[in-house]
Amino acid sequence: MINIKDKEIKELLNEMTIDEKIGQMVQVAGDIFLEDDINVSTGPLKNLELSEEKLYNVGSILNVIGAERVKKIQDKYLSKNRLKIPLLFMDDIINGYKIAFPIPIAQGCSWNLEVLRNIAKISAMESNIAGANVNFSPMVDLSRDARWGRVMESVGGEDPYLGKVYAKATVKAYQGEDISRLGNIASCVKHIAAYGAVEAGRDYNTVDMSEREFRQYYLPAYKEAIENGAEMLMTSFNILNGVPATVNKWLIQDLLRKELKFKGVIISDYGAIEETIAHGFSKNEEYAALNAIKAGVDIDMMSKIYANYLKKWCLEDKEIENKVNESVLRILNLKNKLGLFENPYSNADVEKEKRYIMNKTNLEKAKKLTQETFVLLKNKDNVLPLNNNSKIALIGPYADNIAITGSWSMFSDKTKNSTILDVVKNKVGNENVLYSKGTEILRCEEINKILKVENMQTISIDNEPLKEKEAIEKAKEVAEKSDIIILLLGEHYKQSGEACSRSNIGLPENQVNLINELYKLNKKMVMVLFNGRPIQLNNVENKLDAILEVWFPGTTGAEAITEVLFGDVNPSGKLTMSFPQNVGQCPIYYNHYSTGRPHNSDFKYLSRYQDIETESFYPFGYGLSYCKFIYSNLQISKSKMRKDESILVGVDVENKSQYEGYEIIEMYIQDLYASVVRPVKELKGFQKVFFKPFEKKKIEFEINSEMLKFWNNDLKYVVESGEFKVFIGSSSKDTLEEKFEFID
Ligand code: GLC
Repeated sequence: MINIKDKEIKELLNEMTIDEKIGQMVQVAGDIFLEDDINVSTGPLKNLELSEEKLYNVGSILNVIGAERVKKIQDKYLSKNRLKIPLLFMDDIINGYKIAFPIPIAQGCSWNLEVLRNIAKISAMESNIAGANVNFSPMVDLSRDARWGRVMESVGGEDPYLGKVYAKATVKAYQGEDISRLGNIASCVKHIAAYGAVEAGRDYNTVDMSEREFRQYYLPAYKEAIENGAEMLMTSFNILNGVPATVNKWLIQDLLRKELKFKGVIISDYGAIEETIAHGFSKNEEYAALNAIKAGVDIDMMSKIYANYLKKWCLEDKEIENKVNESVLRILNLKNKLGLFENPYSNADVEKEKRYIMNKTNLEKAKKLTQETFVLLKNKDNVLPLNNNSKIALIGPYADNIAITGSWSMFSDKTKNSTILDVVKNKVGNENVLYSKGTEILRCEEINKILKVENMQTISIDNEPLKEKEAIEKAKEVAEKSDIIILLLGEHYKQSGEACSRSNIGLPENQVNLINELYKLNKKMVMVLFNGRPIQLNNVENKLDAILEVWFPGTTGAEAITEVLFGDVNPSGKLTMSFPQNVGQCPIYYNHYSTGRPHNSDFKYLSRYQDIETESFYPFGYGLSYCKFIYSNLQISKSKMRKDESILVGVDVENKSQYEGYEIIEMYIQDLYASVVRPVKELKGFQKVFFKPFEKKKIEFEINSEMLKFWNNDLKYVVESGEFKVFIGSSSKDTLEEKFEFID
């Protein structure tokens, strides 16, 4: 697609009135333009009371999609926009458009960049032909606290290295070489910055950390996305060291614009400019506008601040008008790169939509990609995989449930989702499958707390305690007739995602009661867990023979799970967030500092808890397979390394099983002492390797001095001479290790 020349863009800018310029800097939800009721609200719904004139000057639309709908809005808008500057359509295609893929935390557990690339490419194509120009994805906020509902969106989990490699892979897959071409969409990376560090895991809460900590852990993924061409960034709701990120001049001007040379468009999160008043930073709406434009936010998402209060500052201060011109130029350049001036519909195409969306090939691909996101947490006595001729009892609220696509799958077509019950019956025959719901996901009191704040109809069950007991009794009768019980339990999808912080991360009491009662039958029990965050399992794990973590697996979840349960596919995923013993450990993460009293014995005066284990319940990087992988013979090419040298480190990995399957081999480094304390382990590389039955392979990693660098207290990114350890293993906890020395 040939874009109009930069000169023409500048001429266009010069033709624009100040009202038209400011209009480009406003983003509204698309319902304003629509007769039909399709609109998804992703924040506090509010009427921005924009005049008709202002409305037909806005620059972009939020979360309206569908080729016909997009074309209709674009036509209506352009018929009234004086200079015929096309609207931009931006959407939350968080884990797919019509095909819902696994939620991002699950995708990260694949430890396979091809999985993320393929998911991004299919999502981009489906949404691009449906009219999307920009995707508010990937979310690469480092996430260490399971109480925070948005850990479900974090592809990299608690690790900066994973966050980096995933950010690069996803941005490049969304954008391709030319964002105007069919199937490519501009990536808006979020949320800048350090939103995952909200205090106490409470959404929108305070973030306060040293710049060194920020640069060491939270910045790498954002930086990698920028260096790989992300077209947009979204500022976060939180304050960062006392100043709301959305009006944080150090963050936007000094770091993003000057240091990282980001030239793309910066959009606020939903209403975040207006919220700087509630933060106690902006005195009022007028000053919210001034603070945001001075910080350098180009687009005001879903607030009336720029629309109603920016003009006054432009008329008073040439400097502010220049900033407005710079913002509008960035927005027009993005529209130009997307080819909108030649074709305001971009790649929206009703016919292509009909042919391509949710096609069989992509659904089959989706199932395979989904299977790589599952994590086998327990498999005592190899109770899995199941054999086809056992009598299976499917028990639990997720057995016959299609709501398995997560809270950001608002565009997906859930009617296409199968249930586990149907798929298993299809596989092994109705006569081999027994079913009982056993219990609800949540009791009325719990689900109603959630429905009420969403102004949704609440639920009531007469005599709920009795009904609950009866349902468990019925489940026991059904399970009694089976050879093995498959429990399908977990969180409600509305318990995970934005504004879904929880102070309790365990299974609800009704589900725990069901497990305890079924346990009395003394039968093998497998739990398939649906959830959007690490869940406390230390109160049920000992009653379960196997646990398969499937997160919210998306459209093909039922088929994907069934094939893994029966061994058609070998699970290979590994955790990207530590599972805590219980919520008291949050935040917990593997790459922690040692402390002066590391917990390495049962002595009292150590950094430990009196009442629970100090270690996580399941560590970062952990996940089992039907194979049995044995690591041995860690070897290092030399014990001393100088600046421009590297070291080869190798290990033998043997698959001591009759199954074929993938193993994720992880390589970590520890800097034993330095001018600032360094984590006990840091992931520096991984390989996902296929093994045939009984196959043994030598796996090698290269260590170079770049991997040893860190941010010191002078905020320099340095490597210091000293002793290091290298670890290679199947998780952050199970490793072989060797020492080496770096000499500067
Ligand atoms: C929401 C979310 C953000 C999303 C945006 C648009 O509040 O914080 O992740 O992309 O608004 O829906």
